[in-house]
Amino acid sequence: MDQEEQNKLKKAAGIKAAQLIENGMVAGLGTGSTVRYFVDELGRRVKEEGLSFTGVTTSVRTKEQAEGYGIKIVDVDDVESIDLTVDGADEVDKDFNGIKGGGAALLWEKIVATNSKKIVWIVDQSKVVDTIGKFPLPVEVIPFGAGHVIKTFEAKGYKPVLRLDDSGTPVRTDEKNFVVDLHLEKIEHPQELADDLIHTVGVVEHGLFLNMVNTVIVGAEGEPKVLTNPNK
Ligand code: A5P
Repeated sequence: MDQEEQNKLKKAAGIKAAQLIENGMVAGLGTGSTVRYFVDELGRRVKEEGLSFTGVTTSVRTKEQAEGYGIKIVDVDDVESIDLTVDGADEVDKDFNGIKGGGAALLWEKIVATNSKKIVWIVDQSKVVDTIGKFPLPVEVIPFGAGHVIKTFEAKGYKPVLRLDDSGTPVRTDEKNFVVDLHLEKIEHPQELADDLIHTVGVVEHGLFLNMVNTVIVGAEGEPKVLTNPNK
């Protein structure tokens, strides 16, 4: 699939998901190129349909985009809970286990997701896979002692790579942490891996989102497809 086609599918999924946001809701707004289309469509609905809702964002960049449309954004601690969060994903399998964090927003994304009554992911069809892990798994790590965490991951065969920007400087998350990407190729036992990662001192969070999502809207040929998680 070429970039143009992929963007078309992302946009279709984003537009469909924007129909789920209703007046008076507290909505979680994710991060990434697919979510950008979703927020653009919300901006259109605010302007043309008078849609009014409160947003909680998973990154500074989504906050800036949403506020540019006049959407009211509050802090996650200023709401009791979030009615519905719409976010992107890097991979999702048939058990609704996914990888997130390609855009380095995994920590805030997981906090927002954990405090949401319902989670919807919007992806293009290339993200739906048999086994997750081909996409390098992002892990958010505190800068202090990050070198030791990376050595620990190397010893375990996790193939860690510290994420750098184009100038060769370590990427920093919105919490000023580093991102270490694990080049695992296949994750056969995601829960075991998640448990191991979260118990590694220096790790703040990892990008495994296991059985958290309720619905996945997949941008596909023709109309987007809606996959419903039977275990939620
Ligand atoms: C941000 O950290 C990520 O979790 C994104 O939601 C994910 O990488 C999907 O991004 P795209 O929509 O840009 O593919």
